[in-house]
Amino acid sequence: MASRSVYPPNRILVLGATSAIAMAVMRQLVTPAAHFFLVARSKEKLTAVAQDLLVRGALRVDMIVADLDDTQAHSQMLSVATSQLGAVDLALLAHGVLGDQAAAERDYFIAEQILGTNLLSAVSLLTWLANYCVSQGQGTLAVISSVAGDRGRKSNYVYGASKAGLNAFLSGLRNRCDRSGVQVLTIKPGFVATPMTAHVAKNRLFATPERVARGILSAVRKRKDVVYVPWFWRPIMSIIKVVPEPIFKGRDL
Ligand SMILES: NC(=O)c1ccc[n+]([C@@H]2O[C@H](COP(=O)([O-])OP(=O)(O)OC[C@H]3O[C@@H](n4cnc5c(N)ncnc54)[C@H](OP(=O)(O)O)[C@@H]3O)[C@@H](O)[C@H]2O)c1
Repeated sequence: MASRSVYPPNRILVLGATSAIAMAVMRQLVTPAAHFFLVARSKEKLTAVAQDLLVRGALRVDMIVADLDDTQAHSQMLSVATSQLGAVDLALLAHGVLGDQAAAERDYFIAEQILGTNLLSAVSLLTWLANYCVSQGQGTLAVISSVAGDRGRKSNYVYGASKAGLNAFLSGLRNRCDRSGVQVLTIKPGFVATPMTAHVAKNRLFATPERVARGILSAVRKRKDVVYVPWFWRPIMSIIKVVPEPIFKGRDL
């Protein structure tokens, strides 16, 4: 089916709308025709994000406060969101946790929480949203994964596993939905200076949320499948992925 999506999108659903990367994306999407529906778990932060978008000139901003770990509530929440929007041009999944790797090595239930937020909640949301977008014959499902999903490393392999699972799910979902006019975009940021990495010493590889947002929206506009943001992470990861396991396992990465 030929693409019927238009750019910029006007009916925009954002899951994890208080994420710094999501906020940068939304600011770049504000037009007098932009109608946002925001979902996040902090009412206070969500209200501030909504106010910011309205002050910048968005047409309308609706919102629901929800903990996205509660997959049982997804169906009703997404029904409300899509009926308020009327249709979905762009759904951005931006929620996620880095988690505590050391704690997850000691306690399986910490690992389960990381997998639950980053992978299982996304699978639940995307199952519903993919069926919705296929039925409307258009829409972009833009999902923030990570370069960490390209190869498991000692320092964050539980987080990496959650993103690797997400990447495989998105690849299959794209294979299923592309012919129905639905774009499934896997977004792989490297290091981004956001609250998630506030505790990490910054280096030259860190990007701003604004730069990452520009890369995301360029990929939406070009209907790409997978985007590394910034672009230089693609060659970096292509090298990291081919390092033989006997060499890789001996390094502190
Ligand atoms: N920053 C990086 O270096 C980097 C690199 C690669 C990929 N990413 C990915 O980029 C995405 C956005 O992260 P960010 O960098 O923008 O960090 P961030 O500002 O800390 O955003 C993470 C967001 O996820 C939300 N969240 C976490 N668990 C949730 C839950 N159960 N229900 C609802 N919302 C929940 C947080 O909500 P609260 O505000 O309520 O905590 C927060 O708004 C994540 O998927 C992350 O894995 C980030």
